[in-house]
Amino acid sequence: MMRQAGRYLPEYRALKDGHTFLEMIRSPELATEVTMQPLARFSFDAAIIFSDILVVPEALGQPFSFREGRGVQMEFALRSEADLARISAHGAAQKLGYVYDALARTRSVLGQDRALLGFCGSPWTLAAYMIEGGSSADGSIVRAMASRRDPALQKLLSMLTATLAEYLRGQIEAGADAVQIFDSWAAWCDDYEEWSLRWVRELIAALPAGFPVIFFARGRNRQAAALASTGATVLSLDWETSLSDARRALGDGAPALQGNMNPSFLEGEPLAAAVAAREVLSDMAPFHGHIFNLGHGIRPAARTECVEAVVEAVLNFRHQSHVIAAG
Ligand code: CP3
Repeated sequence: MMRQAGRYLPEYRALKDGHTFLEMIRSPELATEVTMQPLARFSFDAAIIFSDILVVPEALGQPFSFREGRGVQMEFALRSEADLARISAHGAAQKLGYVYDALARTRSVLGQDRALLGFCGSPWTLAAYMIEGGSSADGSIVRAMASRRDPALQKLLSMLTATLAEYLRGQIEAGADAVQIFDSWAAWCDDYEEWSLRWVRELIAALPAGFPVIFFARGRNRQAAALASTGATVLSLDWETSLSDARRALGDGAPALQGNMNPSFLEGEPLAAAVAAREVLSDMAPFHGHIFNLGHGIRPAARTECVEAVVEAVLNFRHQSHVIAAG
C-alpha cells in the first residue's frame, strides 16, 4: 500500500490547519485518526499507518523538517566517521513507541476484515537522506561514498539495519499484519546488491519467519528477480514495466506482485481512472498473486471522485472474475 492519507482529503487538510505534520505523526490519537480517514471514505482492504520513514533518523539523533515549498531537510548531514558520533542506535527503536501505540490503536478500530500495514525506509534510502542532509536531486554525495567504499557508509548501513529490524519487530508486536520497506532512492545505487539489497535481505531475515514483507524499490522494476532475492513476500512495482512482464520474468509462485496504476490517473477524469485500473487488473488476470495498488503514493491533486471510481472498478472486476471462476 502506498501513501493513502494526505492533502487530497479535505478532512486531512482540516486537521493540518490545527497541527503540524510532525505533531500528527507523533500523536497516536491523531495518527490513528489520519490513518482511518481514507478508510472511512473508500472500501480499501488495507490501511497503512500514518507516519514517515524519517522517524528512524530522528530516533537515531538526526531530526528532520520540511523545506519551504518542497522537500525534506535533515538538521545536519553525516559525511564522515567522525559525524557518526553525532548519532546513536542506543535505545533508538524504543523512542519510536508512539508509532507502536498508533499501530495498536489503529488495529483495535480497523476491524478484522482489513489489514494494517507498518513500514520503514530501506537502509540505503535512509542513509541517502542522512548523508545528503535532506532531499537531493541526484544523491551525488552518497553515491561517491559508495563508489570509494567509505567505511562510514558501511557502518551507517549496519546501524540502520539493526535499528530497523528492532523497529519492524516492534511494529509487528503492536499489530501490523504486514510491513512494507520503501527503497525510494534505489536508482542512486550503482552497485545495488552491495549497497541496498544485501541490507534489505538481512533486515527481512531478522523478522519472524514467514511474516509478510512488501518491498518497493523505485526505478528497479526491471530487476524483479534481484528484488525477489531479498526474501520479500510481495514486490510493489511502479508503472515503469507491466506487472505481467515482471511475472513472466519471475516465473510462477512467490513473490506476489503489488501495483501498479499510475497515480496521475487520479488527477483526471473518473472514467479514465476506472479504465486505467481495469487495464492493470486485466494484465494480471491470468496470474495468481496480484494486489491491486497505485505504482506510487497518492498526490495532493488526486480527486476523491477518481479514487472512488478506481475502488469501484476493482471491486466489480473482482466480482466478475469470481463469477467467471464459479461458472
Ligand atoms: O498514507 C499514509 O498515511 C502513509 C504514510 C506515509 C507517509 N510517508 C506520510 C507522509 C508513508 C508510507 C510515507 C513514506 C515516505 N516518506 C517515503 C517513501 C515512499 C515514497 O514516496 O517513495 C519517503 C521518501 C518519505 C519522506 C517524505 N515525507 C517526503 C519526500 C515527503 C514530501 C515532502 C514534500 O515536499 O511534500 C514527506 C511528507 C509526507 N509524508 C506527507 C505524508 C502524508 C505529506 C505531508 C503533507 O503535505 O501534509
